[in-house]
Amino acid sequence: MDQATAPADQPASNDIYANPPDPDVLELEPIHPGIGDAAYVARRHELFALCRQYRLGSLGPPIVDYNAEEERIWREVSPKLDELHVRHASRIYLDAKRELGISEVAIPQLRHLSGHLTGRTGMHLVPAEGPIAYRIFYAYIADGGFPCTQFIRHGSKPEYTPEPDMIHDCLGHVPPLLNDDYAALLRMIGRAAVRARSGDHVLALKRLSWFSIEFGLIEEADEARVFGAGILSSMSEIPYSLSPGVERRPFVTDEVIETDYDWTKMQELLFVIPSFGFLRQEVERLVQRMGIDVS
Ligand SMILES: [Fe+2]
Repeated sequence: MDQATAPADQPASNDIYANPPDPDVLELEPIHPGIGDAAYVARRHELFALCRQYRLGSLGPPIVDYNAEEERIWREVSPKLDELHVRHASRIYLDAKRELGISEVAIPQLRHLSGHLTGRTGMHLVPAEGPIAYRIFYAYIADGGFPCTQFIRHGSKPEYTPEPDMIHDCLGHVPPLLNDDYAALLRMIGRAAVRARSGDHVLALKRLSWFSIEFGLIEEADEARVFGAGILSSMSEIPYSLSPGVERRPFVTDEVIETDYDWTKMQELLFVIPSFGFLRQEVERLVQRMGIDVS
């Protein structure tokens, strides 16, 4: 979710989430596994142009004709992730994923998923050509739209992507959008982020989102389950997040909003949210404390 750039009052950083590349052109990171694959790069340019055109024209997600290699990567990653989800994902995620019926054998079309979401929670998917500037990203969310990529990682490293791709978005972020409470929480965060007037408040909201929506754990039946999309979309990070190698602290909002993170590596510190209701209440209180009207 946190495909965001810092507003003008925030210091620049090399975090592509905080400071995305020029949105007019596609730029793959030098470390990208597909950088030397001309066919992959050409495909990425093609999808970039298509999704950008549909996003800027408010046309909804285009129907994409995925090629055999893209379908192969999906079929390789999706069942492995599902096995991990069954064992470790939060109930709110699992229930929604099953109801949404995302296939393990064919890449879903965002247009169809979006229609399903709209019928249930009023949310819709916005085609995203890549990272989107912070204010624009959260303006979409405040309006019930979730920006979602339509390209897939490179096949040489199906377990890894240096950028949010369709596996991250569709198998991490999209399912819980089917839940009314989750959708309402996202909209509230979106409205708060868009209306925040202080750089400190924006940073606090970004950290809160990072350690919940993106990399949160949640307590269910006395055990930590995976809640955040960044963990849910990574075959290695799901078991790692629950391993002894990670420090897991209780989710204390004042501590969370003071804690920095490094998006370039697996997260060594995570916070465990006691319940979804607790998170909702904490966001409401924080936004109120900041004096932001999210009504
Ligand atoms: Fe994300």
